[in-house]
Amino acid sequence: MPTSISKLSALLSEKIKNTNTVIEKNLVSKETTIIGDIASHLINSGGKRIRPLLTLAVSELFGYQGDKDTFLAAAIEYIHSATLLHDDVVDRSEKRRGLKTANMIWTNKYSVLVGDFLFSRAFQLMVRTGSLRIMKTLSDASAIISQGEILQVGIEKKLDASREDYLKVIKGKTSALFSAACQAGAEITDASDAHIEALRDYGMSIGTSFQLIDDRLDYLGNEKQMGKNKGNDFFEKKVTLPLIHAYEKSSKAEKEIIKEIFQKPTPNYTDLNIFLEIMEKKKSLIFTKTQATIWTERSIKALEIIEDSEIKTLLIELAQEILDRSS
Ligand code: IPE
Ligand code: IPE
Ligand code: MG
Ligand code: MG
Repeated sequence: MPTSISKLSALLSEKIKNTNTVIEKNLVSKETTIIGDIASHLINSGGKRIRPLLTLAVSELFGYQGDKDTFLAAAIEYIHSATLLHDDVVDRSEKRRGLKTANMIWTNKYSVLVGDFLFSRAFQLMVRTGSLRIMKTLSDASAIISQGEILQVGIEKKLDASREDYLKVIKGKTSALFSAACQAGAEITDASDAHIEALRDYGMSIGTSFQLIDDRLDYLGNEKQMGKNKGNDFFEKKVTLPLIHAYEKSSKAEKEIIKEIFQKPTPNYTDLNIFLEIMEKKKSLIFTKTQATIWTERSIKALEIIEDSEIKTLLIELAQEILDRSS
């Protein structure tokens, strides 16, 4: 775990404890035990809880005094969890956080429906903040996340998708929630509009860097550390930056090889290794990290207008550590 996460967690331990209580309490339904079974299978399986941590850190940054930020942080983690349940169905993923995915254990139907339940619970929790502004921020983000996932399906198998297409997808499916987590954390305080905008930009940029690194780790990472199956994006023919870059830089002959692999109904590990060799030659994974670095720099720049503090230093550290993460 990055040290900035540990340090922030120590600083905000009371708030985190209260947020975790809210998360735990709202997982169940009186009507059916299956909701609690599926939701707690995912939620108690050791996610990093980085988004609610950001919310709490930002509200602390601006000196928030109340307890409503814990509802907000819990709502954010619920939205994240809902998208993961849906995402694992769409990506046909078999492993998350080191465990079998809910879709593998309980079927796609239940995963999608419990995902919807968690989305609804998130909205119930955000109502408890009593802030229309925050409800707008989170509901806008939820719509953008769905659009991102839908846009992603649209570029599946499209080897000639552009870097702009990809950026639109990741800004939607991932950056939007990081951004909303930080923005809403500021909106619950009496931070100025300029400061809220700075935190929105910070969140959006670290979110973009986070997904670039996730897409790199999908090819390069250690399965144990990630808790997810390596190569899932490749086998699902998901078009991410490493692939877009490798294809763009390929010769005519290499392009034919890649096309042939992507036309197979089920590419295998030999295909993956052939593709990895081409990616290695084109330095596509290094390129992906370089792009992530640019977003990290942008996120740190966004914080320049914020007065120095321990939390601010840790937010900068966190941005840097996202680049070097392995899980
Ligand atoms: C996974 O997010 C989904 C992506 C945006 C890549 P995290 O890596 O934050 O997942 P958990 O919650 O820690 O498992
Ligand atoms: C993250 O994208 C998507 C959302 C959480 C909406 P990925 O599909 O890359 O996430 P992982 O790799 O399954 O965690
Ligand atoms: Mg996925
Ligand atoms: Mg991924």
